[in-house]
Amino acid sequence: MTTIPGPIDPPTRLLMGPGPISAYPSVLRAMSAPLVGQYDPFMTTAMAQTQELYRGVWSTANDATLLVDGTSRAGIEAALVSLIRPGDRVLVPVFGRFGHLLAEIAERAMAEVHTIGTAWGQVFTPSAIEEAIERVRPAVLAIVQGDTSTTMNQPLDELGAICAKHGVLFYTDATATLGGNAFEADEWGLDAATAGLQKCLGGPSGSAPITLSDRAVALVQSRKKIEAGIREPGDPSAPDFVRSNYFDLGMILDYWGPRRLNHHTEATSMLYGARECARVLLLEGRDAVIERHRIAGSAMLAGVEALGLAVFGDVAHKMNNVVAVEIPEGVPGDAARAALLEDFGIEIGTSFGPLHGRVWRIGTMGYNARKDAVLTTLAALEAVLARFGAVVPTGGGVEAAAGVYAGAA
Ligand SMILES: Cc1ncc(COP(=O)(O)O)c(C=O)c1O
Repeated sequence: MTTIPGPIDPPTRLLMGPGPISAYPSVLRAMSAPLVGQYDPFMTTAMAQTQELYRGVWSTANDATLLVDGTSRAGIEAALVSLIRPGDRVLVPVFGRFGHLLAEIAERAMAEVHTIGTAWGQVFTPSAIEEAIERVRPAVLAIVQGDTSTTMNQPLDELGAICAKHGVLFYTDATATLGGNAFEADEWGLDAATAGLQKCLGGPSGSAPITLSDRAVALVQSRKKIEAGIREPGDPSAPDFVRSNYFDLGMILDYWGPRRLNHHTEATSMLYGARECARVLLLEGRDAVIERHRIAGSAMLAGVEALGLAVFGDVAHKMNNVVAVEIPEGVPGDAARAALLEDFGIEIGTSFGPLHGRVWRIGTMGYNARKDAVLTTLAALEAVLARFGAVVPTGGGVEAAAGVYAGAA
């Protein structure tokens, strides 16, 4: 017989890893609001409001600013399968795990994928990317802004002009960065950008904000294939149609646009959550939120350094919202993380690939880019490090982080 578990009742956690992080309470409240029908005027109004709010978050005038239902990866996949024609050359500069993900998705979209690499912990110079563009002559440049696996934040501000000069479409994955680091979709010349809610935007995973330039919209609309049953006379049927139905951005745009084409059923509770993430961000002010992330990140950095932990990578290019620290010699990384979780209710992150077992990743983002969250984490980390035999200066991490906050006040 099936044993019926009790209702969901999660333990109290302070999520200080590289994401997901604890959501803003108001986002969770918004997500428990009653459902309405998908064409209820309330719903279509909420969709339009969400589009306008995300124009503010992305810093864009792009009409095609919307949500893809699914986690960040859904946004990436929608962008790449809709923008890449089979056989297109795509350039992916890889500086961590998520660059590999872009290359993988582009390959599945039948692109001829070219990658360039740099050591984990570094970023690319604009000239290295331009040199590769001149050599490869890609149709699309696909690059991660903040690669969470290494904590590095790739500067994008000069890449739009380079792409425009060479007639290349410019896409970025801003999942880890949006809301906590500078992002200027229009000023930087982005054609497409995607994100998720579970990092600096302070929501749960499950909705992927996306914005597309007019040039990108023209391309995806030219490859749209409207499915039988809802297709109308005169609807286009391009021979090189997008090979995914769910991620055909042309159809998704027609669902979000005046035609209100019945593609998927918009995930209502996720829409409410995504709308609230953008609403609280813009209420606080985009620059103020980025500054809050910068201060929290600087405080955490000062704190871990004061605890004697070595910071991984080129700190000058670190994202505001996450830091990677080398696990001290002799400290069992997984056991120490488990102790933080079990005894303090605090989660920090492990790592992937070449960094696995070598570094922990500690996040300060969204709702948790807060002084009390930073100081509590440092105090607990100090206790756990000491328990596992590391030599740590008493109170040093908290004091250093508090000093950063005092300096910023
Ligand atoms: C930079 C980046 N891109 C993509 C993803 C994939 O996101 P998701 O797990 O929401 O699909 C992540 C997840 O951590 C990420 O950090």
